[in-house]
Amino acid sequence: MTKIIITIDGWSSCGKSTLARGLAKELKYVYIDSGAMYRAITLYFLRHHVDWSDNASVQQHLADVSLEFHHNAHTDQSEMYLNGENVEYVIRDLVVAEKVSEVAALGPVRTFAVAQQRKMGARKGIVMDGRDIGTVVFPHAELKIFMTADNAIRVERRFKELYAKNPNITIEEVKSNLEMRDYIDSHRAISPLRQAEDAVVLDNSYMTMEEQLAWAIKLVHERV
Ligand code: C5P
Repeated sequence: MTKIIITIDGWSSCGKSTLARGLAKELKYVYIDSGAMYRAITLYFLRHHVDWSDNASVQQHLADVSLEFHHNAHTDQSEMYLNGENVEYVIRDLVVAEKVSEVAALGPVRTFAVAQQRKMGARKGIVMDGRDIGTVVFPHAELKIFMTADNAIRVERRFKELYAKNPNITIEEVKSNLEMRDYIDSHRAISPLRQAEDAVVLDNSYMTMEEQLAWAIKLVHERV
C-alpha cells in the first residue's frame, strides 16, 4: 500500500501523541513526536545556562545538540535521546514545559528542528505531531489532522499524567502552563500554531481512543 505523510497539529494536551502513536502502530508507520525535540533542546539550554536572547550563543550551542529517537523494545515506544542520553522522562517535567515555548519560538531552533523533521519524512510512512507540521514542515502532507478538546478536559488529562510522576504538582500550575504555552505557540512570529486550510478537525473531548483511531483510519483509507 502507498505510504503517506500524516500530520497532527493542535493545542497542548489534546491527545495528539496518543492518536499519532496509535495510528503509527496500526499502519506500521514511524511516529515522530516533534514536541520532544523542542523539549530536548530546551533541556540542553537549561542545563548549559544558555542565554537564548543571544542569537550567536543559541547557534553555537545548537551545534553541540544531537537528537535521535530510539525504539524501546520494553515499552514498544520511541524515546528521545539528547547527545546519547535517554531524556524521554525528564523532558516531560514542568521545569522544561515552563520554558519550551520560549525556546521553540527562536528562529535558529526552528530551522534546526524542521530540517531534521523533513529528513525523517523523506520516505513517507510517517505520523508526526506538533504545532506546525501540516503548515510548515510538511505542507504537502496527504492527511492533516488538527486536534482540539475542551480546555478543562485537557487540563485534567495533563494533570493526571504529571501527578503520577510528581504528587506535589497542582492543577493550577498545569492549567497556567497549558494556557501560557498555547498563547505563545499561537502568537509567535515564526510558524505559529494554526490550522492548515486543508486540515480535518478532530475534537476528541468526548471520544474514546478507539473512536478516534477508527475516524483517522477511515481518512487514511480515503487517501491511499
Ligand atoms: O507537543 P508538546 O506539548 O510536547 O510540545 C512542547 C512544546 O514544543 C510546545 O508547547 C511548543 O512550544 C513546541 N513545539 C513547537 N512546534 C512543534 C512541536 C512542539 O513549537 N512542531
